[in-house]
This record gives sequence, structure tokens and C-alpha cells, in this order.
Amino acid sequence: MIKISVAKGDGIGPEIMDAVLSVFEAAQVPLAYEFVSMGKGVYDLGYTTGMTDEAKQSIESTGILFKGPMETPKGGGVKSINVTARKTWNTHSNIRKFQTIKGVDTVFSKAGIPINLTIVRENIEDTYGGIEHYMTKDVAVSRRIISRPGSEQVIRSAFETALKEGYRTVTCGHKANIMKLTDGMFLDTFYEIAKEYPQLHAEDIIVDALCMKLVCAPQKFECIVLTNLQGDIVSDLCAGLVGGLGFAPSANIGDHIKIFEAVHGTAPDIAGKNLANPTSLLMSGVLMLNQLGLEQYGSAIQNALMAAIENGTHTGDFGENRTTSVGTKEYTQAIINALQLDNITASHVDNYQKPISPSTNKMMVSSNEIIETVGIDIFVESEQQANDIATIVLRHLDNDMDLTTITNRGTQVWPEGSVFTDLVDTYVVRIEKNTTEIVKKKKFMEQAVHLYDFLNISSIEMLITIDGKRKYSLAQGQKANA
Ligand code: NAI
Repeated sequence: MIKISVAKGDGIGPEIMDAVLSVFEAAQVPLAYEFVSMGKGVYDLGYTTGMTDEAKQSIESTGILFKGPMETPKGGGVKSINVTARKTWNTHSNIRKFQTIKGVDTVFSKAGIPINLTIVRENIEDTYGGIEHYMTKDVAVSRRIISRPGSEQVIRSAFETALKEGYRTVTCGHKANIMKLTDGMFLDTFYEIAKEYPQLHAEDIIVDALCMKLVCAPQKFECIVLTNLQGDIVSDLCAGLVGGLGFAPSANIGDHIKIFEAVHGTAPDIAGKNLANPTSLLMSGVLMLNQLGLEQYGSAIQNALMAAIENGTHTGDFGENRTTSVGTKEYTQAIINALQLDNITASHVDNYQKPISPSTNKMMVSSNEIIETVGIDIFVESEQQANDIATIVLRHLDNDMDLTTITNRGTQVWPEGSVFTDLVDTYVVRIEKNTTEIVKKKKFMEQAVHLYDFLNISSIEMLITIDGKRKYSLAQGQKANA
């Protein structure tokens, strides 16, 4: 038996989890369950993380969390348990599989176009770091963190998923034409990792074109890897292609801990009424069985689910109007009735490796490269015109530094610009060294501190080169050699 941690969740969570576990029981899946407390009840007891210490210990020991949807109380400074769980345990890859299901009508199923694609979405970084600040009364900023090691983890997951699923192509969706450094790094990393998988075809596509192609010809895609926010949007788009969120399983895969969950919420409007559709959670359970090396059980359950739906069995939220819908319990029973267990030969329980607890947090770093600070971006709160700011800066500039540009919302407004560019109260003043000599980082900081006496500085950002290559963006309108 493989031991896993199970949290039933809130709202319809307990009903759909009981339904899924009864299918597992009927299929004689060799799993043992450690039930843990997470969600609303736990928040109510005063745990701001939404999980008890025992739950945390259990999950860190089994390495697997199978969870129902959970309610995050609004306000009160508590964090979403779903996001907290994914981040705390570094489940770097969110894997969602989308397949045509016979009996679930969509424009594509009606047109006879089969869909079988998997989205692998980065799960930790991007704007989901939630690092946001008001810089002035009018300007809020969000830090979008994309790291090379983080990108490597999710991209490797995508190639591994493609191999497991028997796909031939992995596609990287991105916006590197605009976000040249963040998405650019993700895209570069994609082609680096692709070299390790010569048996798979690697290609990339700009994310807006990807969305258009997905709704025109979804059958052309197999495995798509994306950064977090773009992946979030594209995966819901794909859920729509196969009939909605109710048919999209989700796995959050980390090196040590894996979380399997339904993608929908707690559906409080139908909780406790025997109306909930357990399909999404059951399909996530199948993904879990596959990950645990119990593919034979996974296939048997998947086939039974497909057979039940194909026979016209459906809950009230989907299916043909001309056939009567059934309740959660009856739907579950129809799946159990369709189970065929003859093909299950042996269980591969021994293949599953429980996580080995690391003694310290893993530091993920790339190889050493030469980093040089070459300038500083100074964020200035001001309602003056750019020329007035430039005059102040030029009066107080060190000899080995130049004022190269002043921008407003990323558009250059000094030394050249257009009077048609509307301004907000945050300028970025870019100061760069004008010498081939090394200028210490501290000197740029001192320059900013000096300017602080004359300008209302709200933030700074260092400008660096790595192995001589510029690693900061140019403003719109700024010349590359400036
Ligand atoms: P929801 O997904 O719970 O409900 C949206 C609509 O879909 C409702 O009409 C609901 O009845 C229906 N629905 C959802 N799942 C269904 C199912 N399995 N069978 C039949 N109908 C279903 O989204 P909503 O209302 O925005 O969120 C409700 C709560 O769920 C919130 O507290 C939210 O924080 C939480 N939530 C939790 C998630 C998780 O644990 N992963 C994900 C999304 C929301």
C-alpha cells in the first residue's frame, strides 16, 4: 500500500472526495489514506495558513496530497491555501490534461476534431509572486520574477510529460518579443533544455497567436509549456475547448511533493445536495495514480469514466438535455459498474519513492558568470516635466556617470520624446557610467542618495551586464547605443 494524505476540502469537497475514494475502493487501488485537516474549518480555528501542523507533517512525510476544493476566507490577511500549498512545497509544474470526452458535446467533438493536449504551467514565479507595491498615489507596480532555475524545472517537466504521454512535439508559449528579458530567458532556457530531448520536436509560438491557433485548430498541439500567468489563462481556454473546468484534471508536481486537485471551487450553491460532478477530481486522481506508478488502475478508472459518460450518464452540469441527469452518488455508481479490472496484472507499489526530507533549503544557481553594475534606474515621484527633472539631475551628476534617458511608463520622454505622450507621476531616471573602468555598485547608490536631497525617489534598480551583455531593457524610443 502507498500512503497518501487526503484533505476532503469544503463545500462539495467531501461529497466528491467520497465519490472518488469509493471508485478507488471498487478498483482495489492499493492506497492507504491519512486524512488531514485543511481549509475553512482550520482557518476558523485561527491557523492563517489554512492547514494544521499535523496536516503539514503528514504531507511532507507521504509526499502526496490529494485534495478537494477549499474555501479561502475573504479579508483578514489570510493567504489562499491552494497558492500557499503550491509555493511552500515548490510544486513547480502545474500539469493539466485536456482530452475530448465522448458524450461531452463541444464544437470540436461535434466536428469530429479530437483534442489531446497537455498544458504545463510554471507554478511559483511570475506575477504570482504577489510582490506588489504602490509607488505613488497613482502608480502600483508588480514585480514579475522569472528565474533560470525555475524555468528549467518546469520546462524539463514539460519534456518529461511529453515523453510519458507519447507526444512528439513540445511548444513553448511566450511573449519574448515584448518581454525580452523575462520571457526571453524562459524561451532561451526552453531551447537549452530541448537539446537534452533530441527525440522530441521543440517549437515556440507567441502566446496571443497560440490562443488564436488553439481555438482554430487545437488538434495541432500536444504539450505546451508556459510561464505562470500566461499558462493560467491558456489552460482555462483549453478547458473550454473540451467542455469546461469540470473535465480538466490538475496536478501540481514538485521534486518532493505532488498535489492533485480538482480545478473548480467549492460550489457552495450546490453543496450537500448530491448534485456535484466528481469528474474533475476523479481525473486528477487518475493523474495521481499514473504518477505513483499505478497506471493500470488509472487506465481502468479512466476507461470506466469514459464508458459511463458515453452511455449518457451525467450530472446536472453537463450532458444532453434529453437524458435525465443523475446525482453524485448515482453517477459514481455508474462509473463503478463500468469498471473492468481484468487487465490489472500486478501493482507496482514498490516503485514509489517517498520524499527524502532535505536538511536545508535547496539553493538553485546557474554557473558563474561575470556580473558588472553599469548604471542605476532611479524611480522619481514628480509632477514636473522631464526637462525640469533632467536639469536637476545634470546639476548633481558624478563625472563618471551620464544621464542617458528619462522615461515615463516605459516610454522615453528625455532627451527626446513627444508632447503627445501622456505622463503619470512616476519617472525613471537612468544613469549609466561613461567610462570603461569598473564603477563600484556603492557609487551608483551614493549617486542616488545624493539626488535624494533634490528629488522624491521612490525606488531604485541596478543596471547590470552579464559577461558583457546588457541585462536591462531599453525604453521605447531609446537608442540601443545610448
Ligand atoms: P466554483 O467553481 O466553486 O463555482 C462556480 C460555478 O460552477 C457554481 O455555479 C458551481 O455550482 C459550479 N460548479 C463548480 N464545481 C462544480 C462541480 N464539481 N459540479 C457541478 N457544478 C460545479 O467557483 P466560485 O463560486 O468562484 O468559488 C467558490 C469557492 O471556491 C471560493 O471560496 C473560492 O475561493 C473557492 N475555490 C477553490 C479552489 C480550489 O480549492 N482549488 C479553486 C477555485 C475556487
